[in-house]
Amino acid sequence: ASVAGTARSRFDFAEVAAGVDETHHVAEGYDADVLIRWGDPVLPGAPPFDPARQTAAAQRLQFGYNNDYLGYLPMPGAENPARHGLLVVNHEYTNEELMFPGLGRQDLRAVGFKAMTPELTAIEMAAHGGSVLEVRRGDDGKWRVVAGSRYARRIDAETPMEITGPAAGHPRLKTAADPSGRRVLGMLNNCAGGLTPWGTWLTCEENFHGYFGGVLPEGHPEAKNHARAGVPGGWFGWSRFHDRFDVGREPNETNRFGWVVEIDPFDPASTPKKRTALGRFKHEGAFPLVNRDGRVVVYSGDDERFEYIYRFVTARPYVPGDPAANRDLLDDGVLSVARYDADGTVTWLPLVHGHGPLTAENGFASQADVVIEARRAADLLGATRMDRPEDIEADPKSGKVFVMLTNNTRRKADDTDAANPRGPNPFGHIVEMTAPGGDHAADRFGWDVLVKCGDPAIAAVGASFNPATSKDGWFGMPDNCAVDHHGRLWITTDGNSGARTGRADGVWGLETEGPLRATGKLFFRCPVGAEMCGPMFTPDDETLFVAVQHPGEADESDSNAPPATFENPATRWPDFRPDMPPRPSVVAITRRGGGRIGS
Ligand code: FEO
Ligand code: CA
Ligand code: CA
Ligand code: CA
Repeated sequence: ASVAGTARSRFDFAEVAAGVDETHHVAEGYDADVLIRWGDPVLPGAPPFDPARQTAAAQRLQFGYNNDYLGYLPMPGAENPARHGLLVVNHEYTNEELMFPGLGRQDLRAVGFKAMTPELTAIEMAAHGGSVLEVRRGDDGKWRVVAGSRYARRIDAETPMEITGPAAGHPRLKTAADPSGRRVLGMLNNCAGGLTPWGTWLTCEENFHGYFGGVLPEGHPEAKNHARAGVPGGWFGWSRFHDRFDVGREPNETNRFGWVVEIDPFDPASTPKKRTALGRFKHEGAFPLVNRDGRVVVYSGDDERFEYIYRFVTARPYVPGDPAANRDLLDDGVLSVARYDADGTVTWLPLVHGHGPLTAENGFASQADVVIEARRAADLLGATRMDRPEDIEADPKSGKVFVMLTNNTRRKADDTDAANPRGPNPFGHIVEMTAPGGDHAADRFGWDVLVKCGDPAIAAVGASFNPATSKDGWFGMPDNCAVDHHGRLWITTDGNSGARTGRADGVWGLETEGPLRATGKLFFRCPVGAEMCGPMFTPDDETLFVAVQHPGEADESDSNAPPATFENPATRWPDFRPDMPPRPSVVAITRRGGGRIGS
């Protein structure tokens, strides 16, 4: 036997068989219970969910669509903080073809969103954003949403928000509706996120460009900035009914999206804040930690092909127990971008106005310009163009930082580099960074490839899973991740399908140390068409919350896939009722009879 063959797995559960069908599967001996579904009540007065007759007024009170990030915050003073807390949830986007009757195939874009009405658009806008839920685990071991909680909140595409930091009030953020440049309605396409040590929720705007339509006037000064972000993306028909999403009418509205938003879920009346010091790009997530010198470090990936990995270090230290000192900590600090060299070094390049090429000559008149056009600033500094950076999470004990690089089908074989070694890269990889001596504010880190993903049985794929990995244990397209309280890495995926990998998306444990390093093991898998998001452990590691996003969504890579529609979806998970479409839902995974997940 190999060395790996005799080593002991850190993931002690019976592996799930990989595959795709209409429902979810969890390792034997575990329960996977649906906690809340699209349309379930969040706020008082929410009417029962009636998908054939949905209204915007109902949706504003109900759980939104496409749950992505999940964060668990223990309830202060709770008898058991691992069994009573707040669950914060991102609602990334909407799937009209699965949400609304009669819309036919996914051809809304091709016909200029003619089928979309003002009311359907209002439902979509109300189904975006986020939810704050008070949750409790009962004596029967089951989690429930606390009805009538004073913390319950829905945030959507029209919730008033404040813009803070270097770009707040800048002329490029001023619009007809907001001459102050400091007040914006809503957050868009919030993908992943993070939790701060002071108990707030960081929720991150990713593909904001998709919400804009219209045509920018010829020669407009924002033209290059729009183009760099892909604005207008035209993924939704909102610009037909809302001038602010029409770039011809409101060219600056797009500069008010693409930020990290900080929300205090313990104060339902608080105004969410868009923290511009962390830069404007397609933020997958934001992972904060307290550095050994007390400053807060936030990692964030820009999820698009050939985009960058960023780090923000606060100017001041975190002060435990002093909410006033921490409230605006994220408004002041240094944003940097990563360059990966073949010698195994990461160099953090500061995005600071006046330094190097970030000067007025190059169109950066102030730090506001630097953060608004963070991508262009990073271009000039020579950062490394990555294969779609998704979630980043650190293990605070080991100083390791795990970076999910989901895939890049457009990378050419002659355009690879040490940190992005495959062209094309349809299955993605995971990079591990090492903060020297655990100093996450250091100028230089080490780095290594943890695993190149895809089927190890197909030599041409070039995957590097440990040979100890079973036929079920490999995966493609890593997206989100979680390090549990025992330092074990768990990966969730976005993009596996019958056509691409012969398996649904799911949750895999991944070994990071010793002879089993890079061994994967499948713990949970999604129903067909769904992406696996969320992974969030309670402080006792006894519950793993996961988010099943867009069950039944069509696989765009599979031309033989049947159309996904409200009337005829590929699955009706989780209700399996003929009058219910599939519903994105949060699932609580616990061990039957109690105990830690996977040990
Ligand atoms: Fe919304 Fe980068 O996944
Ligand atoms: Ca994601
Ligand atoms: Ca993704
Ligand atoms: Ca998604």
